[in-house]
Amino acid sequence: MTGEHVAVAAERRWAYVVALIILALIGVMVVTGLHWASMPPSRVETIDPRTLHLKGEFVEGNLGTSVGADGKVVVRLVAQQYSFQPQCLLVPAGIPVTFRGTSTDAVHGFVVATTNANVMLVPGFVATFTTTFRKPARLAMPCHEYCGTGHEGMWAHVQVIPAEEFRARAGRGERLACVPR
Ligand code: CUA
Repeated sequence: MTGEHVAVAAERRWAYVVALIILALIGVMVVTGLHWASMPPSRVETIDPRTLHLKGEFVEGNLGTSVGADGKVVVRLVAQQYSFQPQCLLVPAGIPVTFRGTSTDAVHGFVVATTNANVMLVPGFVATFTTTFRKPARLAMPCHEYCGTGHEGMWAHVQVIPAEEFRARAGRGERLACVPR
């Protein structure tokens, strides 16, 4: 065989491997989509982005961290060009925290550094997921979807505090953020 034939045979083998991987990934998407009706966590509930600052769950006074009557910790936040509201989220360590967020304008998103928290915020949809922060820390939370010229300056933080300290502050029933409002 000439060198060219060897190269063609090797390329063909790799093409088969890549095609198999792509087919397997498509298979996984079809099975989870049909069998589990799985949806990305950013596209489960709908909301009208034109009125969310006027009424309902995402009015300014309801943003931040709250503890429900059932003890569940919920963080509500809104993204807009180019900031998150609140700018610093206060959460307890070692307790599951449910995030609920949406966007008023463009597609935003965020990742919380060193954790598995990672979601898109799409106008018209409520993104939700639950995670547990292991230990007290101050974590960076950048926007990770290109949302315009101010994208790289769109940051927030997550302040993880000990559970006892959080419970003491949450006892007053208000919406919590790093800085008292
Ligand atoms: Cu918001 Cu990028």
